[in-house]
Amino acid sequence: MDRWNVKAMAEKNAQAVRADELTRVSMRVNRKEYSREVEPRTLLVNFLRDELNLTGTHVGCDTGHCGACTIIMNGRTVKSCMVLAVQAQNAEILTVEGLAEDEKLHPIQEAFMENHGVQCGFCTPGILMSSLFLLQRNPSPTEEEIRRGVDGNLCRCTGYLNVVKSMQAAARLLLGGKREAET
Ligand code: FES
Ligand code: FES
Repeated sequence: MDRWNVKAMAEKNAQAVRADELTRVSMRVNRKEYSREVEPRTLLVNFLRDELNLTGTHVGCDTGHCGACTIIMNGRTVKSCMVLAVQAQNAEILTVEGLAEDEKLHPIQEAFMENHGVQCGFCTPGILMSSLFLLQRNPSPTEEEIRRGVDGNLCRCTGYLNVVKSMQAAARLLLGGKREAET
């Protein structure tokens, strides 16, 4: 290398720093084990999108405000732009891609589709995950509880009316399924 080639030297140094800093991160995502080497500063949302190609989790603000990046980690909703991938070491993660099983939509997805709870769809993955979290804990929420359940998810399109309607329909579907399973 030409000793005065500053750009090449900078690239070489950057590569050396990156290689030194790589950390192995392992987690279970949507019922599958994954392990990758990443820079310690990698955000969980970028790990999911860029390393695992799970691009259903969206990045809206990158500052914890919009909720588009909401996922379920160890049973609780988290905004994945606020978590480092290394903090999710050995975690159990569910993203929007993990809702459907055996090519069958989750009842919450069906309810949003049937009740026009989606317009541009940018907020939808996060809202679906918040809905799941709410309905797992509170199978028959009131409208107020539903609105509180998604108050960390911003939607610019729907005015929330159809989101609420969809979540009420999802609650009915899930309760119906439970009753059928019990009979
Ligand atoms: Fe994470 Fe907006 S991208 S809260
Ligand atoms: Fe467009 Fe919610 S459907 S932001």
